[in-house]
Amino acid sequence: MLNDTIHPDKLPRHIAIIMDGNGRWAKTKGQPRVFGHKNGVTAVREVTEAAAEMGIEYLTLYAFSTENWSRPEIEVNALMSLLIETVRKEISTLNKNNIRLQAIGNLTGLPDKTRKALLEGIETTRNNSRMTLILALNYSSRWEIVEAAKKLAVAVKDGQLNVEDIDADAFAAQLNTCDFPDPELLIRTSGEYRISNYLLWQIAYTELYFTPVLWPDFRKKDLYDAIMDYQRRERRFGKTSEQLING
Ligand code: IPE
Ligand code: IPE
Ligand code: MG
Repeated sequence: MLNDTIHPDKLPRHIAIIMDGNGRWAKTKGQPRVFGHKNGVTAVREVTEAAAEMGIEYLTLYAFSTENWSRPEIEVNALMSLLIETVRKEISTLNKNNIRLQAIGNLTGLPDKTRKALLEGIETTRNNSRMTLILALNYSSRWEIVEAAKKLAVAVKDGQLNVEDIDADAFAAQLNTCDFPDPELLIRTSGEYRISNYLLWQIAYTELYFTPVLWPDFRKKDLYDAIMDYQRRERRFGKTSEQLING
């Protein structure tokens, strides 16, 4: 079996993915960009299922960045509709697989129908406990960090918090991701080597994995490859290799 070579005791608890390359995938097939997004849903389904089967606890998928509003209106509308459709369709599978849906990002900035479908999905799956699937929607890491700074400023102003008590943990507690551990592994597809405003705070010590595979082609095997690559790495957190070996 494919995952025979994966060490179950060295699994990342949290994997974050930048699902990129839908537009280019469609182009290679002479199809409109939206065709790529629709086919990207197959990859989402496969990866979610594979991650849950393997025992990954958290999977965060970058589905729509705040910057993506600058795309042509027709594409933005199609993405918002696809989201509603997908969340509605997949709820029963999520429940069957005991997967809890969550979201990060500026959800109030989403169209009403999209937000409603999303919140319904979150509500319906809230007691599931095998894995948490987190969708980053209208998400911008700089926005998230600025919001956290504002919340801390208000708490100081209202006398609920001392400036001296602001540390990394206090800051992280104000982020959208406060209930989730930081990802150990970040995967970006489509051969782009950038972060595109994703989880900037949370990936301080995350292992980065880039693959040329375009998102609609991404399958379980590609997830296994990424995890295997991750398991070969030495995570030093500032220490020397010798310190880790002599432990
Ligand atoms: C990723 O694919 C999906 C979203 C950003 C919503 P793209 O749509 O960015 O595809 P490319 O990068 O143009 O190929
Ligand atoms: C990042 O992909 C956002 C998502 C995957 C949702 P983009 O395709 O929008 O990233 P850039 O703009 O090329 O960096
Ligand atoms: Mg892209």
